Amino acid sequence: MRYRTLGDLRVSAVGLGAMPLSIEGHPDEPRALATVHAALDAGVTLLDTADSYHLPGAAPGHNELLVARALAAYGGDTSGVLVATKGGRGRPADGDWTVDGGARHLKSAAEASLKRLGVEAIGLYQLHKPDPAVPFEESVGALRELLDEGKIRLAGVSNTDVGQIRTARDILGDRLVAVQNRYSPAVRDSEAELTLCAELGLAFLPWSPLGGISRSSLDGPSRLVGPRRFGSFHDVAAERGVSPQQVCLAWLLAKSPVVIPIPGASRPETIRDSAAAADLVLDAAELARLDEAARRP
Ligand SMILES: NC(=O)c1ccc[n+]([C@@H]2O[C@H](COP(=O)([O-])OP(=O)(O)OC[C@H]3O[C@@H](n4cnc5c(N)ncnc54)[C@H](OP(=O)(O)O)[C@@H]3O)[C@@H](O)[C@H]2O)c1
Repeated sequence: MRYRTLGDLRVSAVGLGAMPLSIEGHPDEPRALATVHAALDAGVTLLDTADSYHLPGAAPGHNELLVARALAAYGGDTSGVLVATKGGRGRPADGDWTVDGGARHLKSAAEASLKRLGVEAIGLYQLHKPDPAVPFEESVGALRELLDEGKIRLAGVSNTDVGQIRTARDILGDRLVAVQNRYSPAVRDSEAELTLCAELGLAFLPWSPLGGISRSSLDGPSRLVGPRRFGSFHDVAAERGVSPQQVCLAWLLAKSPVVIPIPGASRPETIRDSAAAADLVLDAAELARLDEAARRP
């Protein structure tokens, strides 16, 4: 496993996105625990969760409780594992993803996450999404209060643009350590934010790094790196004898040393395969081919 910097921490270059373990189509508890344990066995030390990763209309926290149970049940040392959670979104019964970035909500949501995770302070707490109905400064101000109170150790923002990242940096200083935006070969509209993170030394956590495919098979072609637009990902994978998903993650890692992808998984095989991407170093010619494929409309 290779490692990358997140604030004052060193975390695995590939994390686990735990969302598929708790939303629609999630696996049963034994398979969910086995998936987290497979990640830990593979050297993954960053687990991404959120209070809103649960079935529509259910109580918040399914995913956080699951992650906490998985860590408690793991036989090995978990002291170096960073659990990154988020607040500011909800999932009502209609299946929508709502936002609530009010300071009062964020502060009580963080307290509840703290209890569910069973920790003294949340390792990394991320504003899930700016709330258009709430001044961004108010939401980030809540993160600052949580930092000052020692309830969270480090802060991050998600789904933010360049201006919002700069504002968060002004308010939080070097306690802002991470930005989590959608980024994959298929969706590259956060290029400017990635560039800013590299400039400021903020970790950039691409979410849905594989394109948000909800189900894919190690045995068959995925919809993300389908044969037409993303043929080069398949070609390089075949040449290297690895999966196209590994090539995709290695391509992301090569974008910048601040990139730490958090691929989702609902079974041990997929996170094992994704974690191995941390050790796949693509050469300049391969990266040029992949860049060209990703740029194609
Ligand atoms: N901040 C935000 O707003 C936001 C939004 C969405 C997601 N996220 C975070 O980002 C994480 C990742 O996003 P995501 O789960 O939507 O999408 P993703 O990582 O692009 O794709 C996840 C899917 O890809 C499959 N997969 C993963 N690794 C694979 C491999 N090596 N080979 C074949 N298939 C593989 C998994 O299949 P199996 O299910 O079969 O294992 C899983 O269903 C989430 O889990 C969550 O933590 C954040």
